Amino acid sequence: MNILILGSGGREHALAWAVKQNPKTDRLIVAPGNAGIAQMAECADIDILDGAAVVAFCAENAVDFVIIGPEAPLAAGVADATRAAGLLTFGPSAAAARLEASKAFTKEICDACHAPTAAYARFDTAAPARDYVQAKGAPIVVKADGLAAGKGVIVAMTMDEALAAIDDMFGGEFGSAGAEVVIEEFMQGEEASFFILTDGMNALPIGTAQDHKRVGEGDTGPNTGGMGAYSPAPVLTPALQKQAMDQIVLPTIREMARRGTPYQGVLYAGLMIEHGQCRLVEYNARFGDPETQVLMMRLGAQALDLLLACAEERLDQTRVTWAEDHALTVVMAARGYPGAYTKGSTIRGLEALPETASQMVFHAGTTARDGQITATGGRVLNVTARGATLAEAQARAYATVNAIDWPEGFCRRDIGWRAL
Ligand code: AMP
Ligand code: GLY
Repeated sequence: MNILILGSGGREHALAWAVKQNPKTDRLIVAPGNAGIAQMAECADIDILDGAAVVAFCAENAVDFVIIGPEAPLAAGVADATRAAGLLTFGPSAAAARLEASKAFTKEICDACHAPTAAYARFDTAAPARDYVQAKGAPIVVKADGLAAGKGVIVAMTMDEALAAIDDMFGGEFGSAGAEVVIEEFMQGEEASFFILTDGMNALPIGTAQDHKRVGEGDTGPNTGGMGAYSPAPVLTPALQKQAMDQIVLPTIREMARRGTPYQGVLYAGLMIEHGQCRLVEYNARFGDPETQVLMMRLGAQALDLLLACAEERLDQTRVTWAEDHALTVVMAARGYPGAYTKGSTIRGLEALPETASQMVFHAGTTARDGQITATGGRVLNVTARGATLAEAQARAYATVNAIDWPEGFCRRDIGWRAL
């Protein structure tokens, strides 16, 4: 079959890598893609936020299956447009993607299905929000309701930070995403990510992961989009996964179906674990980045079969085949990230690296120029490896990092430390 993947990051490179290994795949197109993806698939320059443009492209190119990577096209209704055109689609409708696109909506769903999560209140003006924070005290978490490219959450350790976040959000720092603000109880504990495919009725867990959000070793310094990840996450024990399914995920799926907006796609549950219990931090309506890189490395070619079963509403007849393996990815970023960084530096040594079922460099922010790979983003490469143990996967990934010649880049040297 002909498959179109929408997106341009390391997540989409990893999805493309897994899908391409499946013999069902004839033609693989990624839009817009990046320099690494271009080495293994066709890249197409289409506006992935424009549902009509995506549908027209699929008609012209006899696309059979569309896989939507990032949240923006989901929130823009691209899955609605492709499904309306009769295209088999992986990714939730805009109404279902509100589980990511509106934090207040997610809280409303948790209330309706009694899913454990942080206590909260929602506000559409600053004065009562300030009063609420002053009554509750710090630490406290201030969230812009809408999509803010991962920047709309302020975990305020002091009252001043919380008040400043409220003023910034209502002052328009996040545009319309901050028109409503959710203020939450600060949850202690350890965070982990749980990935569940659902076809609207049935749910199939496909793996756990943990990422490292801080830029510095030992999980210090400013927050980033993620500096590395590994799978499985040992903290999410089978008992905790069962609790998360029974108390959070399945009730959410039933509530979304009951409302006439069934959720179809991958549900990414961010969980906080404390005292042997998990609570929901947030949902994402897509695969995690860089968590997908480790999930795909572990699932391999069967990933396509799972995504197809999800889109064709037959997850009840589908199983995941697990190897008792581990995968780890190290993000290489441009020096300066997550602050200001320079673009356009050259990365050398990539062509000499082996690309195998247990070792792969996924590209996140690269462009090919005059036969060379240049860095064009903050997070640039995802050096990913698999092993029988996490330590083996880690050693393999760092051996590859050491073989990459990119003086303008850096990475954390301790990815995986929590689990090791
Ligand atoms: P989100 O955009 O909702 O993923 O939030 C970003 C990060 O903020 C999460 O991954 C957590 O590390 C942190 N966070 C969000 N909500 C809370 C909370 N209620 N308590 C503690 N940390 C939180
Ligand atoms: N790694 C966090 C995310 O994808 O949102």
